[in-house]
Amino acid sequence: MAKQTWKPGNMLYPLPAVMVSVGDKEGNTNILTIAWTGTVCTNPPMVYISVRPERYSYHMIEESGEFVINLTTEELAHAADYCGVRSGRDVDKWKECALTQRKAETLKYAPVVAESPVNIECRVVRKEELGSHHMFLAEVTAVQADDAYLDEKGRFDLNRTGLIAYSHGEYLSLGEKLGTFGYSVRKKSAPSGKSGKKEKAVQAGKKGQDVQKRKNSRRQNAREAVRQPAEQNEKSSRRPQNGKKKYSRQAAPAQRGKIEDRKINKHK
Ligand SMILES: Cc1cc2nc3c(=O)[nH]c(=O)nc-3n(C[C@H](O)[C@H](O)[C@H](O)COP(=O)(O)O)c2cc1C
Repeated sequence: MAKQTWKPGNMLYPLPAVMVSVGDKEGNTNILTIAWTGTVCTNPPMVYISVRPERYSYHMIEESGEFVINLTTEELAHAADYCGVRSGRDVDKWKECALTQRKAETLKYAPVVAESPVNIECRVVRKEELGSHHMFLAEVTAVQADDAYLDEKGRFDLNRTGLIAYSHGEYLSLGEKLGTFGYSVRKKSAPSGKSGKKEKAVQAGKKGQDVQKRKNSRRQNAREAVRQPAEQNEKSSRRPQNGKKKYSRQAAPAQRGKIEDRKINKHK
């Protein structure tokens, strides 16, 4: 098996592409998309986001010491991309993406994105100036979860929300469930005869159809959601932005070329 060796770069994928909502002390708010994010501690629950200091949102996080991580779904994919390629310096992303800001439960300045199924409210505990990006390490102060996704037993069914992943410059829906935590070592239940098998096959088929139906309906919703802001975007892109050049995608798809020149971090 032959492998190429590349120069050091960011190749840890898939990642979430979350919408981070922020606010300053004057009452201004904004949203930016972040892929350099993750969970770093269970107890106390802690996360990080890494942000370039030149982002418009950066001063808001620094000033308020707060941010909200809003998980993104197929329906929110268009907005997530938009919030990652336009700056709050030039546009009102709430308006352009038809997103609603709501007061956080535990934060003073950063609002939550109401349309996201999960809002993770965070308070910054430390900032590390790593290089291109500064990492804000934060403690989770509350999690808001959309009760539309509670199952009949009151459990939150996160994987029914249509979460998306970001991988090597592309947004992807999550695929089929492969197992649950610990399934590799769990004892398999003995097959219960012919009729049992048949029953299982019927159930599996039905489940497959349900999953497909849910996916189709989510995709339809996503397509509708895309159409609407796309029109708004067209309008806004026609609007001159203080004589500034219109946005051109910050990170062009990786160019094929010499291995050592290959750029593999997509959003910089
Ligand atoms: C999928 C995706 C992931 C991104 N991840 C990050 C990130 O982790 N850190 C960062 O500083 N910028 C990231 N960006 C870029 C910012 O979201 C982008 O520059 C945005 O326009 C900043 O908004 P603002 O100027 O309104 O703060 C990402 C963009 C996209 C599309």
